[in-house]
Amino acid sequence: MATDVITLITRDHRKVEALFERLKKKEGDRRATVAELHALLTAHARAEEDRVYPGIDAHHEVEEHKEAEVLLDALKRADPGTAEFEDTLVKLEESVNHHVQEEESELLPKLASEVDAKELERLGAAFQKRRDEELTALTSGSSAEGGATKAELYKEAQKADIPGRSQMDKEELEEALRKAGS
Ligand SMILES: [Fe+2]
Ligand SMILES: [Fe+2]
Repeated sequence: MATDVITLITRDHRKVEALFERLKKKEGDRRATVAELHALLTAHARAEEDRVYPGIDAHHEVEEHKEAEVLLDALKRADPGTAEFEDTLVKLEESVNHHVQEEESELLPKLASEVDAKELERLGAAFQKRRDEELTALTSGSSAEGGATKAELYKEAQKADIPGRSQMDKEELEEALRKAGS
């Protein structure tokens, strides 16, 4: 039996909260936990943006994803234990909690009222597939020096004929290729 998209999204939210708890309690390797949080939040947000948000009005949510992404990057760069790390962690948790609350109290109930159970399951499968793809890509690259090189990405971008590719840095190339669906 397929799982509905609301259950899947909510399950991820609880996982994210558990990771924040671990970071706040300073349990285990905090860098590894930040990497895990980064991968999960990024994959979750992209899957929502690509597979769930398009059917509903979610401009505000997309803005909040961007805000969290900036804080996540800052957290990844900071050294655990420094004031910068702890401050960024607090800000990121606030930002994500606020977003999760809105999603669960407004956006997801609205979605549930607008589509039938079958559609919620179809969206669930689409969300999960996209999320798992992203998660695999993000976690396989992190152990072996960031995955594809910029030159490899540039070649891909040439093949996909992505406009403005020569002006792009590695991350922008990755993003453009992702949007182009390759
Ligand atoms: Fe979410
Ligand atoms: Fe979201």
